[in-house]
Amino acid sequence: MREIMTGDGSMTFHSEAYGESYHSITGAVEEAFKKFVEPTHIAGLADLGMVSILDVCFGLGYNTAAALDKILEVNPGCKVVVVGLEKDREILSRIPGLSPQIKNYHVIKELVKSNKNEDSIINNYEYTDKNVRINLLVCDALEGVKSIKLKFDIIFHDPFSPKKNPELWTEDFFRQLRKLIKPDGILTTYSCAGMVRRNLKAAGFEVKDGPCVGRRSPSTVAVPV
Ligand SMILES: C[S@@+](CC[C@H](N)C(=O)[O-])C[C@H]1O[C@@H](n2cnc3c(N)ncnc32)[C@H](O)[C@@H]1O
Repeated sequence: MREIMTGDGSMTFHSEAYGESYHSITGAVEEAFKKFVEPTHIAGLADLGMVSILDVCFGLGYNTAAALDKILEVNPGCKVVVVGLEKDREILSRIPGLSPQIKNYHVIKELVKSNKNEDSIINNYEYTDKNVRINLLVCDALEGVKSIKLKFDIIFHDPFSPKKNPELWTEDFFRQLRKLIKPDGILTTYSCAGMVRRNLKAAGFEVKDGPCVGRRSPSTVAVPV
C-alpha cells in the first residue's frame, strides 16, 4: 500500500491487491464532499435534527467525516448515527497518520483508537459523543449488510471499481442495500457504468446522474422506488 498525494492536497493510498487507488487522484477530499455528500439531501436532514448513514467501504473514513462536517455546520446539535462496513484492517491502521482538510476527521481518528487489540476477535469500532454515534464493523460487506437492523437516510456506496470489486456492484448486493434504505433515502456512488445502473434499477432503485467531478462522466444518485 503506497501513499499518493492527490490533486487537492489530500492523501490517499494505492492498493496493490486491487491495482487501484482508494480515491480519485484529482482530489480525495474533494471526491468525498462532491460525489458522496453534496448530492444527498443531508443539509435538509441536518436541519430536522437527525441523520443516519450507512458507509459501505469505509476505508479512510473520508466520506463519513465529510458528512459530519456538512451536518454539524448546518446544525451543531444534530444527532448522527453512522454504521460503517470495511473488511481491511490495514487501511484502518493508516488513519492515525492522516490529516485531511476535513474538520471532523478527529472523530474518525478517535473511532479507530477504540479497538486497540489487533488479535482480538472483536470486530467492532465504536465512537460516541453527545451528537455522533459511529459503529464500524470490520467484516465482508456482503455478510455485514445482513446483520444490520437499522434503516438509513443516506448510503455511501464506495467499493473499488466494478471490474476489480464486482461482488459489491451486483443486483443481489444492491437488493440488500435497498432493504436498508428509508423510503425517502438516497444512495450515492461514483460509477455511472451501464451495468451498475441496470443492477440498481433491478434492485428497486431509480437512478439519475450525480455531479461530474474530476472527469467527464457523472456519478450516480439512486433513490428507492
Ligand atoms: C475505494 S476504497 C473506499 C474509500 C473510502 N470510502 C474512504 O473514504 O476512504 C474501497 C474500500 O472497500 C473495501 N472493500 C472492498 N471489498 C470489500 C468487501 N467485500 N467488504 C468490505 N469492504 C470491502 C476496501 O478494503 C477499501 O477500503
